Amino acid sequence: MYDFLRALPKAELHLHIEGSMEPELMFKLAERNGVGLRYDSVEDVREAYDFADLQSFLDLYYQGMAVLQTADDFHDLAMDYFQRAASEGVVHVDLSFDPQAHLSRGVGMRAQMEGLLAAMEEARQELDLSTAMIMSFLRDQPAASALDVFELAGPWHRHLSAVGLDSAEAGFPPAPFAEVFRRARAAGIPGVAHAGEEGPPDYIRDALDLLGVIRIDHGVRCLEDPALVQRLRDDQIPLTVCPLSNVRLKVVDELARHPLPALLEAGLKLTLNSDDPAYFGGGVLTNFLACQQAFGWDEETFRQLARNALEEAFMTEDRRRALL
Ligand code: ADE
Ligand code: ZN
Repeated sequence: MYDFLRALPKAELHLHIEGSMEPELMFKLAERNGVGLRYDSVEDVREAYDFADLQSFLDLYYQGMAVLQTADDFHDLAMDYFQRAASEGVVHVDLSFDPQAHLSRGVGMRAQMEGLLAAMEEARQELDLSTAMIMSFLRDQPAASALDVFELAGPWHRHLSAVGLDSAEAGFPPAPFAEVFRRARAAGIPGVAHAGEEGPPDYIRDALDLLGVIRIDHGVRCLEDPALVQRLRDDQIPLTVCPLSNVRLKVVDELARHPLPALLEAGLKLTLNSDDPAYFGGGVLTNFLACQQAFGWDEETFRQLARNALEEAFMTEDRRRALL
């Protein structure tokens, strides 16, 4: 099964590039930029990754980003991840990033964009890995800040495949972000949003109705609302599920009790993703393997999950035809 899952062409639709920063790279960039770290060693960092919930993870995730200062740093971060992903049989990545978390530290939009776009082009040429960019807004920041960032990113709008919504969820509903998602749509940029990770099923419904999103990130709590499940199934709205993330952030207590089998049984269009692979124990292949262990799924189930991701990824139709 390992060989089959490794060879299966996989697309990753839910990946925060800042969450792909392995401790080794964190130390390298800290030294390069003269940034102090609160850790003495790579092992110390890994030991600190013991989370009680989403917020306790986000606290370290935003701290870890302090080492990202220049376009080269963003380039190296993305290339480091792309190389690992390609070696796991990943053929396409929809990469999310959090510009507000860098702007607030004085790192400009140009450095972020130029670094990431250079790595995306290098991945295409050298790894035969296609990529797309999702610019995410932080839902625990004011919606006015999201609007500012969307305008600030104007020169790069043609590079955006989607806008997204992430960060602390509970208590931060989608509604205030309706205007920025509307503006993005008017500019030809679709939306995706985290919803139903820690937040209630209503946030999934609001993301669809008020933000007009075409995919839901996580979405696992939809099962608490049968009418919503029916809608997600009827409309085949993709859910980008992140099994190991849900375990590490205690959305579920163990993978064997994850709602994935119930979500599959409900006929939903699911994909498997890593979310923040450096923090949650591994990339897409590791997530596939963990599900094989926990649920004993057969090859056909994994083929369908991988196919769902290729169908829903932001890629050219030529590329999709070549991969499907
Ligand atoms: N940012 C990075 N990872 C996230 C997650 N799992 N949920 C919300 N925001 C995030
Ligand atoms: Zn996420």
